[in-house]
Order: sequence, then structure tokens, then C-alpha cells
Amino acid sequence: MRIPFVAGNWKMNTTVAEAEKLVLEMLDRLDRIEGVEKVLCPPFVSLVAVSMMLRGSSVNLGAQNMYFMTEGAYTGEISPLMLRESCEFVILGHSERRRHFGETDEIVNRKVKAALANNLKPILCVGERLEENEAGKTEEVINRQVTAALDGVGPVVPSRSREQTERVSENLVIAYEPVWAIGTGKAASGEQAAATIELIRSVVAKLWDGNMAQELRILYGGSVTGANIAEFASQPEIDGALVGGASLKAEEFVSIVKHAAEIKARIG
Ligand code: 13P
Repeated sequence: MRIPFVAGNWKMNTTVAEAEKLVLEMLDRLDRIEGVEKVLCPPFVSLVAVSMMLRGSSVNLGAQNMYFMTEGAYTGEISPLMLRESCEFVILGHSERRRHFGETDEIVNRKVKAALANNLKPILCVGERLEENEAGKTEEVINRQVTAALDGVGPVVPSRSREQTERVSENLVIAYEPVWAIGTGKAASGEQAAATIELIRSVVAKLWDGNMAQELRILYGGSVTGANIAEFASQPEIDGALVGGASLKAEEFVSIVKHAAEIKARIG
């Protein structure tokens, strides 16, 4: 059984003080929700402060990006070694990084490998743009992004610590985030998202094997709210959500996580 997963990607929002306030507002309630893995991904400068607040709770920490080298003369970059001290997860290949910062499939692939090699679990983002969707190219784009990002990755990873297993399916999460649904208020439908996630699982099955593809958690992301989470969580194929804007509101994020947990427990 795949454990449901909900992560909040705060993007470039919150100062350190605001991040601490937001965690304070939601932590107790999040902590009490069982049956779902919960992850907060604040900006880099808040990671240390938030990690101290999350200590001893059931909520995990993720970063929003990293560079693929472990150290050296790369001014302004953050390495997997640095993140490893506070984070369990790292979002990689987000469409905003691909679009605004020129991240290619090859760069994303190097980052995925570097994260796994350094004991961080990637939340790998893939998704087609509006024009690709309208041109009927969703399948082609998703196939290319997943295959490229996972080139030379798995099915086993070198295990570096006791909490890391060797099966890459347990050390990686994929998020399907159609670019046209991000920040637009126009979420995909549950059926649309489930169909593409099924496709992602079939690509992964070809790369690794069917069992590992069944083990891998695949999320939906793009305008997820407390009002529409049920539509996604009720699809057996969708293992949870990567939430942007709605994760910046304590009340709403708690409600998303709660609904996801309840629905997944109900549909088993
Ligand atoms: P929104 O939930 O704001 O649409 O953002 C989704 C996203 O990009 C999460 O990574």
C-alpha cells in the first residue's frame, strides 16, 4: 500500500518570521493527522528555523531546489550536503525552475541523481505546458520528462543511512503538475490527472519494473484547494498533492491534508 503524501511548496513566499508564524499556526493540527505523509517546503533561509520547529513531530521538511554538485566554487548555490542536515525531501524540476531558470531535462536528471546519492528524497515534478496540452502532446512531453529525469536512476540506489532503503521507488516521489493548472485556479479534473498519472506509472514500470511502479507515490499539483482535494484524493491512482498557494494558509492546508487522509483511509 502506498502511503498518501501531501506537500506544501511555499515557493518564494514568507520571510523567516512569517515562516515561523505559519508553522506555529498549523503544526499541532498537522501533527495529529495520521495515515498521510506531510511535508513542508519553505524557502532556503527558513529551513533551519522550521526544521527546529518540526523536530519531534510527524511533519517532514523539504527544500524547493538544489544544485547537483556537493561543494565548490558555485556562488549562490545550495548543495545536497547542506540540505541533508535539515531536510528529508527536495523538490526538483519544478516547472517554474524549468521556465524561469532554464533547467533542462539533463540538469533535472543530474539533480535527481545527486539528491539520491546524498540521501535526499526527490519530489520530481513533471508536467506539460498549455500549448503542449492543446496540441495533444501531453503524453509525449510526460514520457520525455520522466524518462530523461530518471535516466540512469534506479531501480536501486546506494543506501547511505538506515532510514534510506535501496529501492528507488521508496526514495522518490513524482508530482504531475500540468503547467496550465499552476497558480491559475484552473485545476485539472480528477479523471484527467489520474489518466496522466497512470501514464507516468507505465513509463516508470518500463524503466524499472511493475512492482516498483506500483510502490511509487505519484501526486497531483496545480490549484489544489480544500474545496477540490476530494476530487483528486478519491482517485486511487493519485497518491496525494503538491500544494502551492493554498499551503500558505494554515487553515486551508490543514483541511487539505485532513481530507486527503480521510478519503484515502475510506477508499483503502
Ligand atoms: P498552486 O497550488 O499555487 O497552483 O501551485 C502548485 C505548485 O506549483 C506546487 O508545486
